[in-house]
Formats: sequence, structure tokens, C-alpha cells
Amino acid sequence: MEEKRKQLRIGLAGLGNVGTGVYKNLLKNQDLLSERTGTTLVVTKIAVRDINRKRDIEVPKELITSNWNELIEDPDIDVIVELIGGVDEAFKLISGALNANKAVVTGNKAVLAERGKELIELSEKQNAPLYCEAAVAGGIPIIKAVKEALIGNRIGSIYGIINGTSNYILTRMNSGGIEFSEALAEATEKGYAEADPSLDINGWDAGHKAIILGWLSYGQWLRTEEVSVIGIEDISLDDVAFADDLGYEIKLLGVIRQAKNDERIEVRVSPNLIPKDHILSSVDGVFNAVAVHGDVVGETLFYGSGAGQDATSSAVISDLADAAENINNRVGCTGFVPKGEFGTVLPLSETISQYYLRLSVADRPGVLAKIATITANHDVGILSVIQPEPESSTEHIPLVLLLHDASYGTVQAALKSILELDTVEPKHTLLRVETLEQ
Ligand SMILES: NC(=O)c1ccc[n+]([C@@H]2O[C@H](COP(=O)([O-])OP(=O)(O)OC[C@H]3O[C@@H](n4cnc5c(N)ncnc54)[C@H](OP(=O)(O)O)[C@@H]3O)[C@@H](O)[C@H]2O)c1
Repeated sequence: MEEKRKQLRIGLAGLGNVGTGVYKNLLKNQDLLSERTGTTLVVTKIAVRDINRKRDIEVPKELITSNWNELIEDPDIDVIVELIGGVDEAFKLISGALNANKAVVTGNKAVLAERGKELIELSEKQNAPLYCEAAVAGGIPIIKAVKEALIGNRIGSIYGIINGTSNYILTRMNSGGIEFSEALAEATEKGYAEADPSLDINGWDAGHKAIILGWLSYGQWLRTEEVSVIGIEDISLDDVAFADDLGYEIKLLGVIRQAKNDERIEVRVSPNLIPKDHILSSVDGVFNAVAVHGDVVGETLFYGSGAGQDATSSAVISDLADAAENINNRVGCTGFVPKGEFGTVLPLSETISQYYLRLSVADRPGVLAKIATITANHDVGILSVIQPEPESSTEHIPLVLLLHDASYGTVQAALKSILELDTVEPKHTLLRVETLEQ
């Protein structure tokens, strides 16, 4: 007689967008998963906030509870899937589950970015694994790629378009010629942006993911205050058009890399000009892409859906399959060494890149010469200049400079002197230009 298949009993916390996808797709591919893992993956309890809410899918009433503690206290549940979001409640839930020696799967980048170090230490102490494939870039298997497939590499750099909403907005500004506010309204109408899109727009959704990638790549949990995060809310159509004239496209980019000459690491998120002929500039709409450079493998690129019910649930299910395989062979913590001490971060003022600077200057001879003298005094070279002919007689006209590689601190000092000139208006735009070299 065929041996009875083992079961992985799952407690699902959260039946919202992603939780619904996990429940639905586990049922859809149950036989396939059972064949592949040798284990039947079964949801045996679900915690939600409001048990009376009407759901998009049919779920047996007896599975549902409004108290997630019931999942942790149930001795028959092997693994808890945390998909409730937020930081404090999710931390209690995940740490409670690990303390009860249950494996945990989470898609929650915010709780990992804020409290990942504590959770990973607890996971190791309790010998209860914590999986988080869905927390970065949704359906793209970037966590597994970095920690498993690229384990033999020192990571030189990761450049990621890791927020679909902001990428959609910038794509529409670039290709549709519409302003930021109109593109955001469009993203909301199409269901790409959350009801409260602030974490997408201010860069922090990508910032949380960049912190997780920094941990995976360098074993260091950076504090949120150590990471420079700038959102896309101040990008104008003028900047998009000038970038285009210069041969670039503006993308919200997560940069995770080791400094060239020392051990310090750089983790930051900001709108960047990237070359139009680089493959990342063709990543449009809500899609995500992550370029990873390893010292052995060289350049690799991962592309796909960075969010959404089905894509994200695919990542959660892959973690559940790992949990099914590991359930009898437990190892806490699924990051890779070196282990998470707080690392040394390259201060923002020392980070080096090229820059795009858009100024508004008096339409008079000699202004550019004065600005060039200031940049030269700070040892910052000018790569190109755009000074469009004014369409009508106007006191101030735009002046766009592309500046050579320099530290952010040096460029800020030069900018301060430039803005002290009486021929230069205070309003300006300073963006990084990322050549995306390793
Ligand atoms: N959406 C995506 O595309 C995506 C992609 C990658 C990662 N993620 C991450 O996945 C997580 C879930 O996202 P989501 O979009 O699915 O969120 P969501 O649609 O807002 O769903 C949240 C779910 O959690 C339940 N919940 C909230 N607080 C609870 C509590 N205290 N006790 C029990 N249940 C509680 C809610 O219950 P009710 O239904 O009763 O309100 C709801 O079912 C987040 O951490 C998010 O960052 C999402």
C-alpha cells in the first residue's frame, strides 16, 4: 500500500490581497505541490481582523478566527504565514510563532526592515526557520537567488527597481507626458497604488526592501535612519524631458553595494537618471527588476511582477514548499553569513556618483561662467550643459548641468555656493546619475 502522504499544516494570518492568493493557489495546485514536495500543504486555520467581512473566495467558516493566537497555540499547526502587514502586531505574531517553535513565512518587508535583526536572532535561537521570499520584489525569486544560487559570490552591487507603483508613475510621465499627480491618480484608478500610497511615493517601501537585500548580501542589518531614502514626489515633467535629452531615463532605484576601496556598504533609494541603453531603463509599468553583480557569476538580471495577489502568493508558496521539506530537519534562520551585526555604512556625504542639477538662473551673460568656477573650485567637473532658448522673454531660464563623479558632500557644498549667487533662484533639482557599473 502506498505510504500515506505527510501533511504540512498551515496557519494563515491575513486573508487580504496576498492571503487570498495563497489560499486560492494552494488549492489550485495542491496535487502538483504534493507531487513535488511529497507533502500535502493544507491551510487548517485562518486569522483575520473582521470575521464578518465578505471575501472574494469561499472559505469554510470553521477555519476562520479573529484571534491569531489560536494559530500559535494550535499544536497541530506546523507553519504560520504572516500576511497581516504593519510592524508592531506582525512582530508580536512572528516572534510568538518562533517562540512556539513554529516555522514562519512572511511577506512583510516593513517588520523585517524595522525588527529583522531581532527576529532572525530569535529564529536561530529557537531553531525555527523564518522565510521571506515575498518581502522583496513580489513574484521575483530574488531572495532565493541571492542566498542560494549566488552563495558562492561576493556581491559587488545590487541595483533594483523594486517598487511597481513608482515605476508605473515614472513610466507614464516618461512615455505619456503626464504630470506626477495625474500619473498617481491613474495608478490608483487601475488598482496599482494602495489607498494610502505614501510608502510607495516617499520611497520607503523600496527602502525596506533595500535593507533586506543589504542584510542578505552583506550580513548587516542597517537601521532605517542609516539608509538614505528619497521618493519621487518632486520629479517634474521638465526633469523627465531634460533627462531624455541627455540620454537618460529617471527610475526610482535601490542601490545596495560595497564601497570601492573599503568594507563599508551603501544602501540607498532615490530617483536616479540611468542610461537609456541600459536594460533596466526598459523595465516599465508595474514591473520590477533587480540587477545583481557577483564576483564569480558577473552580471545577472531578475525581472517580473513585483506585487499583486498571484505573483506574491507564488513566492509565499515557494517558502511553504521549503518549510515542507525542512520540517523534519530544522534549521533556524534562512539568511546567509556573515551574520547580522550592525555593519558600517558609508555616510551619505561620502557616496559617489554623477549628478543632474537643474537650476533656474537669470537670463544674463556670465552666469554659467560663475557657476563653472564654483564647481571647478570644488573639483567637480561638468560633463554637459543644457540651456534651452527661452520661449518668451522671461527673467529666469532653466540651466541643466550633468556633473562628473563626486561625493554627495562635495556636490552639496558646491550647490550651496551656487545658490548664494544673486543670479540663481533657490528652487532647484539635484538627482543622482547612476551609470550602473559594478
Ligand atoms: N499586496 C501586495 O502585492 C504585496 C506584495 C508583496 C508583499 N506584500 C506584503 O504582504 C502583507 C499583506 O499584504 P496585503 O496586500 O495582503 O494586505 P491586506 O490586503 O491589507 O490584507 C491584510 C489582511 O490581514 C488581516 N489582518 C490585519 N490585522 C490583523 C490582525 N491584527 N489579526 C488578524 N488579521 C489581521 C486583514 O483582515 P480583514 O480582511 O478582516 O481586514 C486582512 O485579511 C504586507 O506585509 C505587505 O507588505 C504585499
